Order: sequence, then C-alpha cells, then structure tokens
Amino acid sequence: MKDQQLTSLLNQMTLEEKIAQLQQLAANFYEGAEEGGQITGPMASMGITDHMIENSGSVLGLSGAEQVIAVQEAHLRKNRLGIPLLMMADIVHGFKTIFPVPLAIGCSWDMERAELSAEIAAKEAAVSGVHVTFAPMADLVRDPRWGRVMESTGEDPYLNGRFARAFVRGFQGNDLTDDVSRLAACVKHFAAYGLSEGGRDYNTVDLSERQLREYYLPAYRAALDEGAEMVMTSFNTIDGIPISGNVKLLRQLLREEWGFDGVLISDWGAVKELIPHGVAEDEAEAALKAIKASVDIEMMTECYVHQLPALVADGQVDESIIDEAVLRILKLKQRLGLFENPLRGADIEKEREVIFCEAHRTAARELAVKSCVLLKNDQVLPLTTEQRIALIGPFANNGDILGPWSWLGSTEEASRLAPALEARAAAGKVTVAEGSGIESFTEEQWLEAKAVALEADVIVLALGEHSDMSGEAGSRSDICLPEAQRELLQRMKTLGKPIVVVLFNGRPLDLSGVIENADAILEAWFPGSEGGAAITSLLYGDENPSGRLTMSFPVSVGQIPVYYNHFNTGRPLHAPGADKRYVSQYLDIPNEPFLPFGFGLSYTTFSYSEPNLSGEIMTKDQPIKVTVTVTNTGNVQGEEVVQLYIRDISGEVVRPMKELKDFAKISLSPGECKEVSFTLTEAQLRYYHSDLSFSSDPGQFKLFVGPNSQEVKERDFRLTLA
Ligand code: GLC
Repeated sequence: MKDQQLTSLLNQMTLEEKIAQLQQLAANFYEGAEEGGQITGPMASMGITDHMIENSGSVLGLSGAEQVIAVQEAHLRKNRLGIPLLMMADIVHGFKTIFPVPLAIGCSWDMERAELSAEIAAKEAAVSGVHVTFAPMADLVRDPRWGRVMESTGEDPYLNGRFARAFVRGFQGNDLTDDVSRLAACVKHFAAYGLSEGGRDYNTVDLSERQLREYYLPAYRAALDEGAEMVMTSFNTIDGIPISGNVKLLRQLLREEWGFDGVLISDWGAVKELIPHGVAEDEAEAALKAIKASVDIEMMTECYVHQLPALVADGQVDESIIDEAVLRILKLKQRLGLFENPLRGADIEKEREVIFCEAHRTAARELAVKSCVLLKNDQVLPLTTEQRIALIGPFANNGDILGPWSWLGSTEEASRLAPALEARAAAGKVTVAEGSGIESFTEEQWLEAKAVALEADVIVLALGEHSDMSGEAGSRSDICLPEAQRELLQRMKTLGKPIVVVLFNGRPLDLSGVIENADAILEAWFPGSEGGAAITSLLYGDENPSGRLTMSFPVSVGQIPVYYNHFNTGRPLHAPGADKRYVSQYLDIPNEPFLPFGFGLSYTTFSYSEPNLSGEIMTKDQPIKVTVTVTNTGNVQGEEVVQLYIRDISGEVVRPMKELKDFAKISLSPGECKEVSFTLTEAQLRYYHSDLSFSSDPGQFKLFVGPNSQEVKERDFRLTLA
C-alpha cells in the first residue's frame, strides 16, 4: 500500500477507530477471538469494549502460527476497514532457541554472533506470527543491584552501541517488507532506565543532560541509526518528568533533533503511571501529557481510548496529533507488508521445522561458549576425562539456565550441566549431588554431597541465582551468592580437593566467600538452551574461554556504582605524593572493582608489544594509526580481545580516566603473533561540552592498549586543530 493510500485510509477512519489504533492489549484479550471475541473479566473491568478490540492496532505477547492466524483472520473479519493487527512480543535473546542473556552476549565481544542470534530469534518468532520485538534493550548499566543488567550489554556506551546495531541488523535484515523471516526492532528503554536510583526497578533517575547525552543516549541512537523501527519509553523520570510525558526528551530530542518518525510505544502501563508519578491528576491528564509527548501506542492501560475522544472534542488535543500517531502505526504496518499479507511469516508447517532446529541450537551453543568468562584458574582447568568429577550444587542438574526473558524457551529441553559432563567424561567418572538449594541447605544434602566429593579428584560446584533473582523487578540489595551456597562451598573447601565453581547468574556478583574458596571460577551467566554443552566444552578444554567482562564486578555492594570510565576527582587516591587520608577513598575497601571492565582469563597467555604510533600529533585530517603485536605465549590456541582506550588529559569538562574506542577479537595459535592496528581519529575524541556542543579540544591525550581496562600499555599523543 502506497503512502497516499495510507492517507486515504486514514481519512476514512472515524476518530474512535483512529484512537483504537493507539491501544495495545495483551494476548489474553484476544484468545476468544476465534469464538467471536467474548468480553472477559479484566477487559470488562477496564471498560474495554468489543468495538475497541475490533479496532485496536496491535497485540502484546501473542505468538504461535496457528493462534496468530486465527486472531488476525478473526480481527480482519470484524475490522471495518480491514486494518491488520501488529503482533509485538519480547523476543530479547531468543524465541524457543534461547541464547545467553544479553549481558553474557556482551562478554563475547562478537558482533557477528550477536547479529546471528538476533537473526535466528527473528526467524523463529516470525514463523510463529510475531512482527515486532521489544529489543534490543540498550540501557547503559552501572549498578548490579538492578535486576535488568542481565538484559543490557554493559557499562560502556561505545560497546553498547556496537551491540545495539548488531541486534537491529539481525532482527530487521535489509528488507522488512519482503523478508518475512525478520522482525521490526523496538529499542528500549528510552531513556537511562539503567540509572534507577539504588538499583531499584522503576525508581527515579536524575542526571545532567550532558551526562545523558555522553553516556546514556549513544546506544539508543546507534540502534536508530541502524534503522530500528520503534522506540519504547522507560518507566523512570528524567529531570523530574516521567518519560512517557516528557515532551523535551520525546518530541524535541527524539523526534525533532534526531529525526525519529517511527512508532513510539509506552512501556507497560507507563502512560497511566503518570498519575502515581504525580504529574497527572487523572487518566485524562495522563492521556493529554502522553499524546503531547508523541507517545503513539499506549501499552496495557486504557487512558487513550477512554479520554482522547473528549480531549479532542473540547479542543485540548488537535485531531491532527492523533492522525500523526495513527499514520506512523499504519506506515509500520505498511513497511511490514501487512496490508498485502496480514499473516506475514506465520506458517504452521514451516514453524515445526524452523523452531529449535539443530542449526539454531548449534549457534546458541557457540555463542554461549564465547560468552562465558574465566574469572580464576589456579591450574585446575581444563579437566581431563579420566578425572573423577563430583558435580555438586543447585545448578548441577538444573534447566533454569535460560534467564528471565526466555519467551518460549523450555527449561525441560535445555542442555543441563550434569548430562553434558557425563557424556564428555570417561564412563562413570561423574557423580552428581545437589549439595544445597539456591537459598536452602540441609545437613542431609551436605552429607550426601560430602560423600560424593570425597570419592572425586575434582569438585565442580554449579552455583548461582534463581532466574527470578534478576530480570524485571529483580533488584537485590545484597549481591553475594545466597548464604546457603557460600556455606556449601566453604564446607567443600575443608575437604582439600580442587574446586571449580561455575556461576549461573544475571548480574555481576560480590564474590566474597567464592573467590577465596574456589580454585577456578567460570562465569556462565544464564547461558541459554545449550548452556550445559557449552560449559562442558570449556571445562574440558575443547574450547578455550574468551569472554571478557563488559560490566565491572564490585568488591562489595558498598562500592556501587563502580565502573571503568570514571572521573579522576581532584584528590585521586593513587596520585604521586597523595595524602594518605585526605583523598577520594574508602577506609575499608579499595576504589578499584574486584574485576574490571574487559577482564577475562584464557587457558593460554598473551603478550603485548609497546604500542607503535604512526605519529604523535593528530589533526582533524591526520588520524593516528596505532599498532601493537600480540603473541600467544602459551601452548594452546586462544582468542584475545585487544582493547583500545583513550584519555583526554584536560577537557572543557572533566573527562573519564579511560574510554573504549575500539577493539579487535583475534585468534592465535601457540607461539603465533599478530599485528593489530587501529586508526584513531579526531572524531573519536569528541564529547559533549557544558553548552552541549559536541566537539573535540586540542591538547594532550593518552591512548592505552591491552587485554582489559586495567592492564594496559600507554602512549601519549596530542591533538592540534591547526
Ligand atoms: C515490561 C518491560 C518491557 C517489556 C514490556 C512488555 O514491563 O519493562 O521491557 O518489553 O513490559 O512485556
């Protein structure tokens, strides 16, 4: 359908039909659609009429080819103008084949595999009738108390932007209209939701516009520059204004300054939440503020359908604003080809062969291998198949390894650690015991586990958080492993056997009680459908760990927020000649994180030459080429993530101690060395000034190259604008 046809369609619509397009309800409002759409309890209490359903624009959370076909066909039989529904769902890191959680994918530093994970998620979701995914989540995170850090790719704006682009490319492909195996991407949660105070979900966010633009907006912008079709508002305030009513952020910055003319959807209930936030007295004021802020679709509350007709009638809202919103929604349906093909990719037959197929599971396993991070290894890994293994812990034989957003992922069908280890080791070499629950521990469990451990050469403890201890509404004030599991580990330590800990968790943890008692630690996060197989291949050295942390692990919860791209302060702790007391420090813990951004071990070792520069003066037109030689100094093949950081020694505002500007993930055979080069340009030195201008300043800089944000080799250079 061409644009002028859309306009003509819009002109045929009544005001009530237009406003209903702005309404999104969950799938359960439609389940009865095949029987004619009976009004059910929740719908009746919300005052949602049959007529509103027949004219609504989109559905939340419906999937399954047969179900979607039935609902769409029933809808088209009733909708006067034959306008199809958009089917939207949270396909965040997989549909049925579940990939590692995004924070784990972030640790892979592997854009190709990240893109492939989104492409496969789209393939499985599209054949099951989904049109739009509420992903990527591009929130920058610095507080592991927040449960949703698992949904992000970490604490760096540049890296988050690279991943946001990769996910959008994977979800959307190059031709959303004709490639019905793809999904429209909806980047979220705009904006700065990851800065929720106290790491408590849905809490207040407040920061300067300069910080917002410098750190929190770049990844959303990257997703939109890559063509993301939609944006979802976040639950939080910024500068005292809840996002879903924030004209400055949504209409002025997102739409006018950035030129975004796609569909903007509120997060669940966020329009009506303007009332408890305290910026709207009632639904009418909430609807007024949200439509003025240019929120097109109201998810799961009913302010628009109830209040907009009167607001238009009494002149508070011009119908042209409604028309703008409806036209954006109709254009998205057009770009998805829904007018010509309202069932789009939904295909009952094809669904059976595509969903959870071997090729998809292989991709999930490969990405899980790349996403795990080796945090410690005192010569106990890799295991050998002849060793007698005691596999103990609440995650030893547990399918709850898919993470909080695992859509149709099946914990029953997930690759668990126990069977995977048993299959890989020599016959009879692996014995399994639970040892403890996630938060409970009994003497009986201990005695059983102890007996198993005493017969073993190596103890593998599979520990972690339950999947509902992170994710949405999963904030924790104490980010240690639950006490029961630390007790289990402490008692295991007394047996005098080598202990390998495998962690299943959705956030950086305070590793107190773990790091000192484990001889090796493999961070597996929530590794997804193929987690057990992936972890096993790493434990036995079939694969060499190559993951690198993209979010700092704090010494303790008291150190939060701790992140690598921090400012120096006027009294830095380690400055030459610094006072012992009167500097920026804690009396009881160090300032540095326990494990820094970029950290990860390997079964081999690497050495770095001093960085070689093509010159020490950079100009706008004369970049600097940075070259470093990396050597595999160990005796097994391994992958290294070579990272390039800069520091602006003196800016118009304070500048971070380090900023990631580029990286290269390389593979080296034993003894092999490779030259890695980066081209550093003036554009990469630009930043937001106090007047919000975005530019670079001439002056002194440092660049750093190394395997993580702390172990680096540095060189000086100057930028001149001559
Ligand atoms: C939730 C989440 C959001 C999700 C939406 C729809 O509240 O905040 O990420 O996309 O609802 O399920």
